[in-house]
Amino acid sequence: MRFFVLLGTGLTVVSGPDVVKVVVKEGEDAILPCCLYDKEDIEFKLFDWKKDGQKEVFLYDAGLIYNNGHTGQDDQFKQRVSYFPDQLTVGNASIVIKQTKVTDSGNYTCDFPRLQSPRRFHIELVVGAARKPYVTRVSDTKDNAVLQCEVQGAFPKPQLQWQDRGRYDVILNTTVTKTDHYRCVVTQEEISHEVYSEIDVNISGSGYHTLVVVVLCVVVVLGVALYIFWYKKRGRRQKNQDVSEP
Ligand SMILES: *[C@@H]1O[C@H](CO)[C@@H](O)[C@H](O)[C@H]1NC(C)=O
Ligand SMILES: *[C@@H]1O[C@H](CO)[C@@H](O)[C@H](O)[C@H]1NC(C)=O
Ligand SMILES: *[C@@H]1O[C@H](CO)[C@@H](O)[C@H](O)[C@H]1NC(C)=O
Repeated sequence: MRFFVLLGTGLTVVSGPDVVKVVVKEGEDAILPCCLYDKEDIEFKLFDWKKDGQKEVFLYDAGLIYNNGHTGQDDQFKQRVSYFPDQLTVGNASIVIKQTKVTDSGNYTCDFPRLQSPRRFHIELVVGAARKPYVTRVSDTKDNAVLQCEVQGAFPKPQLQWQDRGRYDVILNTTVTKTDHYRCVVTQEEISHEVYSEIDVNISGSGYHTLVVVVLCVVVVLGVALYIFWYKKRGRRQKNQDVSEP
């Protein structure tokens, strides 16, 4: 059990240590759950939702809500938060945040400060932004290439990993020495998301080596052929000289 002192009101709120975690993708609606276990009717009670201990998200006060009898709601949540009127009689103070943005991510509290035993619930919201990675070739030498994998604006922090066709792990900002098809994989476990980008790499070095070998072979074969030709020609001339001598 943990104890919270609500400054200003002088109330001591007893709450369990459990935090409910809600995970959605950017743009989706998020339901933040908050229910009294004893299903006490809260139609004529007060409950207050806050984000990160300070931003006013939603207030219900015996039928009055923000922008309808109450002021003080944070601009971030104006016109975006609603509750479930038909659920109040069973102690359900859950809210919906419409069209979530990454900046809605945070720790929310749902407070019942005026109940006989005041209660507070903790809900963590994670709004995930999935982004496809950009893969580029940042430098080249004869025998290798440096590949860069970059992800911008993703949340939560993604894991990046380079894989080649054989699915061997290669390190990020990897230097590759083999002509192949490479894939940078982005994983965001919290939002069960995985996405990748691919790049084809042709290492000129490997082609260059082949070229050198081919040229050398041609030179050797030509050399041998020329030598044989010259040797035979000399032999024939010598024979002609022998015949012409009396
Ligand atoms: C509270 O109401 C919401 C919206 O109808 C619902 O999704 C949720 O399951 C309810 N919670 C409980 C504990 O009944
Ligand atoms: C919620 O609070 C915990 C503990 O302070 C913190 O680790 C976590 O990052 C917060 N969640 C978000 C989405 O900000
Ligand atoms: C990857 O390599 C590029 C070019 O050399 C460099 O600018 C960048 O900082 C490197 N990134 C990492 C994560 O090392």
